[in-house]
Amino acid sequence: MFSDEGTVSFEARPSAGPFFCLQRSFLYQESNHFVLRRLKLTTAGESHGPAIVAILDGVPAGLELSPQDVARELIRRQGGYGRGGRMKIEKDLGEIFAGVRLGETLGGPIAIRIPNRDFKNWQDAMSVEAPAAPDDESLRRVTLPRPGHADLVGMLKYRRADARDILERASARETAARVAGGAVAKRLLHGFGVRVESHVVRIGQVHAPSPDPLPDSVQASADASPVRCLDEAASSRMVAEIDEARRAGDSLGGVFEVIARGLPVGLGSHVTADVRLSGRIAGALMSIHAMKGVEIGMGFASAAARGSGVHDEIERDASRRRAGGYRRRSNNAGGLEGGITTGEPLVARVAMKPLSSLRQPLDSVDTKSGEPAKAIRERSDVCAVPAAAIVGEAMLALVLADAWLEKFGGDSMQELESNVEAYLAGLATATLG
Ligand SMILES: Cc1cc2nc3c(=O)[nH]c(=O)nc-3n(C[C@H](O)[C@H](O)[C@H](O)COP(=O)(O)O)c2cc1C
Repeated sequence: MFSDEGTVSFEARPSAGPFFCLQRSFLYQESNHFVLRRLKLTTAGESHGPAIVAILDGVPAGLELSPQDVARELIRRQGGYGRGGRMKIEKDLGEIFAGVRLGETLGGPIAIRIPNRDFKNWQDAMSVEAPAAPDDESLRRVTLPRPGHADLVGMLKYRRADARDILERASARETAARVAGGAVAKRLLHGFGVRVESHVVRIGQVHAPSPDPLPDSVQASADASPVRCLDEAASSRMVAEIDEARRAGDSLGGVFEVIARGLPVGLGSHVTADVRLSGRIAGALMSIHAMKGVEIGMGFASAAARGSGVHDEIERDASRRRAGGYRRRSNNAGGLEGGITTGEPLVARVAMKPLSSLRQPLDSVDTKSGEPAKAIRERSDVCAVPAAAIVGEAMLALVLADAWLEKFGGDSMQELESNVEAYLAGLATATLG
């Protein structure tokens, strides 16, 4: 039995290309492709294996962290209109089993396990032991690769005759581990007054521009919508679009926006490619399964405008301590100039392609016989943009927490807090020149 993102694969992909391999330290750990320098997130686990695991290293000692902090985010990732049957089976809460004692982090790796409830239906197919009968149907081998998924390229690259060896890891179930790690990053940022939120601005043909001003709590408003869209009328049209795609046996993509508010000026740097925050954020967001584009602030539209209509004019405003006593008349830069935060909200939009598991499958080839055949029919999500937005929040939070630790340092939360306080106090009194 196939299911939504369960069957489908998760990919920790080498998406970013040679640019992101300029320095080994840029990708803290090459095998996971996270654009992190101080934190290290390792994920393990197959979609239908016993569990998905996240190990987050580099968090200072003394951060208050509860199981609910992780569970809350995992539950949010499971929601959204358009998901398939897998999310009805799974009840992700996450078990913290290392790195936290008596409600506080210890400074060592934090390990979180997210059991796959569906594993009980996959014990033969996902067994660690070699099978007694290699052709047994219970092994659920796959030889009909889906166009748009990692199936065929993974089989060729890793020389696997069974696409399940690829799709189990390429499936976006892996993003549960990212969300668990991101929950810890969010907890750290939240203590310093930084909020990372998201909302959906497009599903298929239905577009809902970002409201100006944004609501006080983007999260509360977006989570109240079945598609995490801030515009009620557009929400209903998005739901109808998903229903229509489901009836047609098709799938849909869309665009979500991630926003971080409360950041001070000065995270990231202009000095070398590996420390520019814009590249680290784009790399992290593009590493999410099925993401095909990232724009920061005005993004692609800025290419068609004149400089005078794009750049954010500067004013003095002593009350804006985190922005160094300055304000911008607009925020087309999306909170980043020179790869450095400006103190304005950080805004990025991410485009997700339509999912590649289709009830009406596309043409493919049976890799066993070499004959033309339809791709495997998967029970799948029709649209996962609302869930992907939660993964986007996690990835942005990880990069920002990483940049925070890079800027302020410290083995303990006390040390980190006093470093942050000293920097903010300096900003408040700063006169340049
Ligand atoms: C939250 C989330 C859920 C997903 N669910 C599915 C799904 O149910 N079916 C599917 O075919 N792809 C799904 N995907 C996308 C695939 O994982 C992705 O297309 C695949 O790994 C190939 O990678 P690429 O699209 O980045 O090339 C999902 C992605 C995300 C972020």
